[in-house]
This record gives sequence, structure tokens and C-alpha cells, in this order.
Amino acid sequence: MRIGIIGAGAMAAALGGGWAAAGHEVVIGARSAESARELAGRITATLGDTSPRRGTGTHTTEMPGIAESEPTSPIAVRAAGIGAAIAGADIVLMAVPVSALTELLAEHGSALAGKVVIDCTNAFLPDDAAPEGVTAFVLSEDAVAERIAAGAPKAHVVKAFNLLAAEVWAGTDRIFDGARLAVPICGDNPDAIATVATLAEDLALQPFPAGGLHQARYLEATSVFTVGLWFSGADARAMLPPLSAAFAVADA
Ligand SMILES: NC(=O)c1ccc[n+]([C@@H]2O[C@H](COP(=O)([O-])OP(=O)(O)OC[C@H]3O[C@@H](n4cnc5c(N)ncnc54)[C@H](OP(=O)(O)O)[C@@H]3O)[C@@H](O)[C@H]2O)c1
Repeated sequence: MRIGIIGAGAMAAALGGGWAAAGHEVVIGARSAESARELAGRITATLGDTSPRRGTGTHTTEMPGIAESEPTSPIAVRAAGIGAAIAGADIVLMAVPVSALTELLAEHGSALAGKVVIDCTNAFLPDDAAPEGVTAFVLSEDAVAERIAAGAPKAHVVKAFNLLAAEVWAGTDRIFDGARLAVPICGDNPDAIATVATLAEDLALQPFPAGGLHQARYLEATSVFTVGLWFSGADARAMLPPLSAAFAVADA
């Protein structure tokens, strides 16, 4: 698949690196040509690893106006401006702060028409009202994915990959307590959901279709709540029983 990633930070590196390793054509689109080029090069440099998720061939070409090098294999990690990264992609990952979205959507919203847009953003702010000794966060807005859909009305917006840290997405450990790590996915277009599910599987993750895009606000709220627990040192995973005990008393 042709994936354009907007942003060249931690999430772009984690997800873009995994997808490039799985053989997808990845273009890093950033407002800074230097950042885009640096990340494209960094991902390319990892692609020779022998890890099972890593591809074998690499090449780096740069978009006109940045730099150019000849392709040497079918796997491409390229650097581009934001417009070019969107134009050449079937799937666009928004890997930018929520504060960047208004400007990005005003400039590029119409160019996203017909594309699958993956929203991995989180609108976290520190919770100033948290009791002393407790680290917690609140949301600066409560429905980012729906705002992206409103700003790019012909795009197929899917919320995914916002729940866990970039380091987790970049890692290769995928089985915890015997179960594959799952990725909740919210969206309205079945084909777009299937596409994102495939991209999750390409990272050796378990896709969990989790409802329409109107459900994404709850996934965003789950993220801010859960990350707050983790920052406070609580194992958020411990508050959830397995499915078999979710509606029953297991301690009989
Ligand atoms: N990091 C995580 O663990 C994690 C986990 C889940 C979700 N998320 C969410 O994923 C998104 C990206 O997070 P990240 O950790 O990858 O952030 P990051 O490392 O800070 O990178 C953000 C990227 O966005 C670019 N950017 C910032 N403002 C922009 C603007 N106005 N227009 C265009 N590009 C802009 C930055 O470019 P410059 O370098 O030029 O500033 C940078 O390339 C955020 O919404 C975050 O909440 C992060």
C-alpha cells in the first residue's frame, strides 16, 4: 500500500518503520524537509535487520525539491512535503499534535478526498485538578477524529493506534499473557476499517473493529484515562478481567 505519513516524530517513526518493514511504500511528509529526510533515512537504515517484521530490500528517494537518490529495491521510504505525501498516498497517517490539525485540514482537507485517513492523535493536557501525588490528564477536546472527518468530509477517517505509546508500536513484543496485543479501530467505512486492520496485522497486532467513528471519542477518552493510570504507576491492565469473566463472578 502507498502510505503517506504527516509528521516526522515518534509516531511517524514507529508506525512508518513497521509498515516499511512489512513492505509498504512509505512517504514521510513533514513541514521540515530536513526532518522528513532524516526520518526517511533512519527508517531505511533499519530495513536491513533480519527481524521477522523487517523487509530485506531498501531504497530511499526524495521528492523533487528535497534531494534525489536512485531506487535500489522495491521497498521505498521517501521524504516529501506534506502536500506531495498526501497526493501520492492511498492511506494517510496524521501523526501530528492535535494543535496542528486546524491548519493542516484547512490547507489539505480537500486533498484527502477518497483516502483512508488514520487518526492516531491524542488531545492530552495535564489535569490541573488532580489530587497531589496523582498524575492524570484531561482532553483538550473530546472528539478529534470527528473533527478530522468534518475537515476532510470526503476522506475515510479511522481512529486507531492512539491508545499506546510509540515505543510499544515500535517494539516487536506482541504477545502478553498469551494474547496478541489488540488495536481498537473506529470508523464508518468498512473498506477503510479492513485496510487499517490489515495494517495492524502487518505489525503483528490483533485488530479489534470497535464501532463507527462516533465511537472514536470514547477511544480517545480511554486513552487519556489509561495513560493517566500508567503515569501514576498503576497497571491499567489489572483492572480488566478476561472476556470469560467480564459478565460473571470468577472467584466462586
Ligand atoms: N508519542 C506517543 O507515544 C503517542 C502515542 C499515541 C498517540 N500519539 C499522538 O500522535 C501524534 C503525534 O505524536 P508524536 O509523539 O509523533 O509527536 P512528535 O514526536 O512531537 O512529532 C510531531 C510531528 O508533528 C509535526 N508538527 C507539529 N506541528 C505541526 C504543524 N503545525 N504542521 C505540520 N506538522 C507539525 C512536528 O514537526 P516539527 O518537528 O517541525 O515540529 C513533528 O514532525 C500526537 O497527536 C500524539 O498525541 C503519540
